[in-house]
Amino acid sequence: MKADMGVNMDLPHAAPHASGHKSGAGSEAFCFAHLSDPHLTSLQGVRCPDLLNKRLLGYLSWRWRRRREHRGEVLEALLADLDRHRPRLRLVTGDLTHVGLPREFMEAAAWLRRLGAPEEVLVIPGNHDSYVRAPWDRTYAHWRPYLDEVADGNGFPLLRRQDGVAFIGASSACPTPPFFATGRLGRAQLARLEGLLAETGRAGLVRVLLIHHPPLPGAIAWRKRLVDARALAALLRRTGVELILHGHTHRATCGELVTAAGPAPVLGVPSASALGHKPGRRAGYHLCRITAHGAARRLEVFVRGYDPVRRQFVALERRELALPGSFSAPAAAAAGQ
Ligand SMILES: [Fe+2]
Ligand SMILES: [Fe+2]
Repeated sequence: MKADMGVNMDLPHAAPHASGHKSGAGSEAFCFAHLSDPHLTSLQGVRCPDLLNKRLLGYLSWRWRRRREHRGEVLEALLADLDRHRPRLRLVTGDLTHVGLPREFMEAAAWLRRLGAPEEVLVIPGNHDSYVRAPWDRTYAHWRPYLDEVADGNGFPLLRRQDGVAFIGASSACPTPPFFATGRLGRAQLARLEGLLAETGRAGLVRVLLIHHPPLPGAIAWRKRLVDARALAALLRRTGVELILHGHTHRATCGELVTAAGPAPVLGVPSASALGHKPGRRAGYHLCRITAHGAARRLEVFVRGYDPVRRQFVALERRELALPGSFSAPAAAAAGQ
């Protein structure tokens, strides 16, 4: 049940500010931002030997199209907007680069430092970051402070527990043949993911799964799909999950995935840097707040979009969604909610 979330409705005072905001339920709420696909790097001056593989296609795409679409001034406006709202955690669901060159990883690392301190930022890779096979030490190692225990050799998924929420970051990024942008989690990662979801579920945490590729079948063209989406869906039916956040489509979308405890929202955001030359593709991001209502949990989503006339992000829409499951009082207390 995919639905567009691009409603033009300016709610200038709708977005939550900083931590400690009192929700409508009268409980403390924890606010986080979800952004994706900034494609923030430049390929200006790239050397020919760096392009003797699939990267040549990516470079041509950047020259013809992407460098006019993904703009630094939009990302500057995004950073200013985040400064205004000060979410305690900023989640980035991949595609920070264009063709995953080591110099792009360094450029992206500098941008991540501007986005926030490592304890305020969580990042997972997208297919553009793993464009071709490349050594970890020359690429993802530059993002080490933002990748938590993955950097210590445990591999994905990574886990960040904060304020009663378990943010679980999976990696669907893998090199693919030319003209393909598919993603894959793989058996080993799926097994670790099942263990993490079960463990954090038993601990009474609200589980938020981050993944670059949309997990819903038919959410994107076949050549860009998540190859093991069925295996992931079956796993999530077994373990449960409360919320799934993804990128890759460069569109704001809202769907749901069936779990034993009820439907879990599946939310996608547009590219964080897009000027929007194509309809429905203009830059946006989400500010989210999980609130406690007795044993139930709800998600407030404040959709922020780039306004090219005002050259700033503005409120577009506010949504409230039910999260599946019920949470016992002690768990809710532990959640600080
Ligand atoms: Fe992307
Ligand atoms: Fe992508």
